[in-house]
Amino acid sequence: MKKEKTKFVCSSCGYESIRWLGKCPECEAWNSFTEERVEKPEVAVRKGYSGDLNMGKLGAIELTKVSRFSSGIGELDRTLGGGFVPGSVILLGGEPGIGKSTILLQALEALRKPSLYVTGEESLQQIKLRAERLGVKSELITILAETDTSKILAAIERTEPQLFVIDSIQTVNNPELMSSPGTVTQIRESAYAFIENAKKMNRTAVIIGHVTKEGSLAGPKILEHIVDTVLQFEGDGSNLFRIIRAVKNRFGSANEIGVFEMQGSGLKEVLNPSGVFLNEENRVNSGSCVTAVFEGTRAILTEVQALVVPSYFGNPSRITSGFDQRKLSILLAVLEKRARMNLSNKNVFINVSGGIRIDEPASDLPICLSVVSSIREKPLPVGTIVIGEVGLGGEIRGVPQILARLKEAEKLGFTTAIIPKGNGKEIKGKTGMKLTFVSSIEEAVNTAKAYI
Ligand SMILES: Nc1ncnc2c1ncn2[C@@H]1O[C@H](COP(=O)(O)OP(=O)(O)O)[C@@H](O)[C@H]1O
Ligand SMILES: [Mg+2]
Repeated sequence: MKKEKTKFVCSSCGYESIRWLGKCPECEAWNSFTEERVEKPEVAVRKGYSGDLNMGKLGAIELTKVSRFSSGIGELDRTLGGGFVPGSVILLGGEPGIGKSTILLQALEALRKPSLYVTGEESLQQIKLRAERLGVKSELITILAETDTSKILAAIERTEPQLFVIDSIQTVNNPELMSSPGTVTQIRESAYAFIENAKKMNRTAVIIGHVTKEGSLAGPKILEHIVDTVLQFEGDGSNLFRIIRAVKNRFGSANEIGVFEMQGSGLKEVLNPSGVFLNEENRVNSGSCVTAVFEGTRAILTEVQALVVPSYFGNPSRITSGFDQRKLSILLAVLEKRARMNLSNKNVFINVSGGIRIDEPASDLPICLSVVSSIREKPLPVGTIVIGEVGLGGEIRGVPQILARLKEAEKLGFTTAIIPKGNGKEIKGKTGMKLTFVSSIEEAVNTAKAYI
């Protein structure tokens, strides 16, 4: 008997190998290889094509304005770059239970356009129950419980929706392919079929993809390249706040975020995110420092908290939540070397409140000053905001969009700002806040000490 040919495919990035590998050489994921049957060989590229080509002189190509339609939910529109684009494909990723099905059902209601919601995970009854809870009752929504790609495509043709949702791509499959559902081949082939339909018929497609424990889009990682927009649902389970972040967007600014709060009746937009990430009562605590981070096209105020305690063992702890741990080690080393602080016998814990993650250089200085405040056990004065990048030489570098950050702080009642000297010129006379300019970490620490 002829042995069936198989291959091993990395479920994280799609890398193929003829033998099983423990670690993927491409994306370095562990234990990610699954065995799949080898499908029919692809047809070789034809030579000498003589028909039409989609080609034109760059100067002669006319721009057509991208038309959009609103999802009916402002914060979702924002992450999409202003609304759904007809003929575009959106991949929505996130952990189970974070609210992917919820937000899309709410969007279909708010959309007021013919739509089709395909579920491969839940029954029609379950969807109805959720819809009741969310108050979704639009006549324009059709629900289909199906996993077979060709049946789904047939339903799309029959209902002619302006937007269709596939919940989730891991559950749909094409029985003609020999691989089982959820494998890379199945995900890729099914996604291609939906993308082709969306492009050809000028429909919008939203494809839901689950993420693995490690936080990467399992399988759909390979889809990131072929879809137009990748949205990522963030937020930890213990927190009611949810963030939808545009990781990639061919039709708008990437890294734009939309903020929501999970309530019994569904996800509610948070119209003033800065208010959410600030912890009003703690603002007078030692070790806390407010900063303004830039997310997409807007500034959002967040609060970083440091807790510095003596360490009685050899290796002091550096533990962070919402901030890069290695970055913290670097900043502490700069404080040791350039501001002559002794931190080798102290445990340092950093937390960013509200469940948001900050990785912007502008949050370096607030982290440093929150550490100083915790060591001195005295709070920074109420109404103070700190912004600045810290270099290894202890220099404080200017940050982009300083004015927008200060305006947001001013709006929320902040009166004082410690900011990089390098930003001085561009904001001269443009803000009513009391400004303290710093150019080195030593100067910044001394400024903070003078305050506290
Ligand atoms: N009966 C309920 N009352 C209030 N909240 C609920 C209820 N059922 C589910 N939820 C909330 O909705 C979330 C599930 O959202 P869902 O959209 O199904 O997530 P996903 O599709 O991302 O897996 C749950 O984590 C929970 O917070
Ligand atoms: Mg779901």
